[in-house]
Amino acid sequence: MARWLDGLEARAAEVLPSSVHRYIRQGSRDGVTAAEAVAAWGRVRFLPRTLTDVTHVQTGTRLLGTPVRHPNAVAPSTFQRAIHPDGEVAMAVATRDAGSLMVVSSNAGTPFVEIGATGVAWWLQVYLPADRTLAIPLLERAVSAGARAVVLTTDTPVVGTKYDDGPTVWEEADPAHLRINFDAGVHDLPGFAKATDLGPADIVWLRERTGLPVVVKGVLRPDDAVRSVEAGASAVWVSNHGGRQLDRSLPTAQALPAVASAVADSVEVYVDGGIRSGLDVLAALALGARAAFLGRLPLWALLGGAESVLRMHRDLGAELEEAMQLAGVTEVAHVPSVLAGSGVTTSAGGPAAEGYGSRQARPGRD
Ligand SMILES: Cc1cc2nc3c(=O)[nH]c(=O)nc-3n(C[C@H](O)[C@H](O)[C@H](O)COP(=O)(O)O)c2cc1C
Repeated sequence: MARWLDGLEARAAEVLPSSVHRYIRQGSRDGVTAAEAVAAWGRVRFLPRTLTDVTHVQTGTRLLGTPVRHPNAVAPSTFQRAIHPDGEVAMAVATRDAGSLMVVSSNAGTPFVEIGATGVAWWLQVYLPADRTLAIPLLERAVSAGARAVVLTTDTPVVGTKYDDGPTVWEEADPAHLRINFDAGVHDLPGFAKATDLGPADIVWLRERTGLPVVVKGVLRPDDAVRSVEAGASAVWVSNHGGRQLDRSLPTAQALPAVASAVADSVEVYVDGGIRSGLDVLAALALGARAAFLGRLPLWALLGGAESVLRMHRDLGAELEEAMQLAGVTEVAHVPSVLAGSGVTTSAGGPAAEGYGSRQARPGRD
């Protein structure tokens, strides 16, 4: 039996316009960081417990107070309507049905009210413009449509260069699929360029402006995590933007432990980058994250609409449940206890050798 999740990207490569497929897949510059992300999770090792009753495993947790069925949720991404006409609404419906949470990009191509009307638990992600006042109508729309937190993306003072061997999605996509929750006409104003001077004061400003908890996304260093917390952040999100910003940045699997030990006692810590399986989620929890966020995986699934995104959530959840049973842990909070030594720093051999632990293996038969 082949793993359904493994076939999603190949299907997208066949069916999506090539500019959209490349846009999702690509990393910045040489793509070193994008390429390393998945393998880095594959190097984490566990030391499973036996002689433990794992009849019932409890995968649920809370993210800033919102209950989720599994400790993973959907990261923000641009151009969802270029993948499927229902875009963010399909993502929202599936994510709601999966008992998960979705972060909506400030670049979204669907009005926040339509996303909120699905009943999904959602947070707003924001790229702040140089002139912060241009973001105020966006923030107000998000608050009135029910956003429960604001995620400030901090790793994008400028957009990392990517190389394309054809027209880009930016050239080809329908402008109606981009940034439609801002006021009309702001895109052409000079002050709308991304802020290159983000600082802790922006965390304070977002909190005061929206009355919502602020999550700081794009942190790789413990000192930046501490500065975020000191400025009033409610959570820190370890991310290198899926390898789309500074190429050769550390894989998040390697950055996470130091950030978690610096701030996880006081705030929630999340991670993203290369999470493709329930075992990757287990590894993220083992290294100190409260939840892992999914970037490309739900985008590949979105090609098949809400039904396909729901299956992605369910398959991933089932993988995590099996992994917890096999690890001998019945609650997500106990997952760090099955981390083996310093798994992430032993790079010898990389991920499982070709054919070993093959995806063709039949689950449930040993
Ligand atoms: C196609 C695409 C679009 C993205 N758009 C945004 C965005 O609008 N805002 C943002 O903060 N991050 C954005 N990201 C980064 C994701 O939120 C996330 O950090 C990253 O994709 C995680 O890595 P993964 O794709 O390997 O799971 C985007 C990523 C991709 C792949």
